[in-house]
Amino acid sequence: MAEALDAEPMREAARRLLKGMPDGPTILDVGCGAGGMSVLFAEELASVGAKIVLVDATEHLLAEAHRVVRAAAGDRATVETIHADVADDALAAKLPPADLVWASRVVHHLPDQQAAIDTLARAGGLVAISEGGLDFNCLPWDLGIGRPGLEDRLLAARGEWFAEMRAGIPGSVPMPYGWNVALHQAGLTDIDSFGVLIHHPAPGPDLLREFIVERLTWLSEVAGDRLADDDHETVAALVDPANPAFLGARQDLFLQGAKTIHCGRRS
Ligand SMILES: C[S@@+](CC[C@H](N)C(=O)[O-])C[C@H]1O[C@@H](n2cnc3c(N)ncnc32)[C@H](O)[C@@H]1O
Repeated sequence: MAEALDAEPMREAARRLLKGMPDGPTILDVGCGAGGMSVLFAEELASVGAKIVLVDATEHLLAEAHRVVRAAAGDRATVETIHADVADDALAAKLPPADLVWASRVVHHLPDQQAAIDTLARAGGLVAISEGGLDFNCLPWDLGIGRPGLEDRLLAARGEWFAEMRAGIPGSVPMPYGWNVALHQAGLTDIDSFGVLIHHPAPGPDLLREFIVERLTWLSEVAGDRLADDDHETVAALVDPANPAFLGARQDLFLQGAKTIHCGRRS
């Protein structure tokens, strides 16, 4: 659902990253998930062909990514998969040299983020990492149920969860600086970043409401006991199709946020 909602602005980002690439480029999508961005790369490159290499540690996501990217790629492209842990020191030797290395929302899952970026930098090319940006907002401040400001409290709890998640990764290494510095330390040059605005005004399509119900369910799960009981009760009502407060019946939900793409080049 997220990929479908992001597709239009992310296609613009894909075009921007592919600009100036040689014909038939090699693209590595590291932590590819279900393959949404590589589908866009494949569609954009359908006329010139490409070699697209998908890397992920989760086998069923990798299989799904292979299926959808293969379907989008046309006859002129090859699509390969590497089932691997990006934190594995041996990975660098398995990655082919690439014109573009794309890694979206995977580096923050890894114990040593700088080491992971070093690995990606050895394969690039242009290295583009999507991390950070602006959190997604989707709810009116006053929902008419529970205390106003629920989304702010959910996002604050998610922030605390994230810090604990990072600290709890075995072998977690702090990276007390920003992504541009990390790319520089990996030996990359021409370091830059750009933002991608994701904006679906209310009321939006049914898919938007479905996504927001899923998102709220997930946010309340990760919030756990960092969120007050009354807020949990409010979320339970909002995501229950049988409840009069069900979000799926509202016409005032929206989605607004931004992704930041940090780029550097191996010279
Ligand atoms: C938040 S998802 C991002 C998926 C996709 N790149 C996107 O931006 O929508 C993180 C992905 O990284 C993968 N991942 C997490 N830790 C990993 C690791 N250590 N090695 C390889 N892949 C990993 C997960 O399986 C998942 O597909």
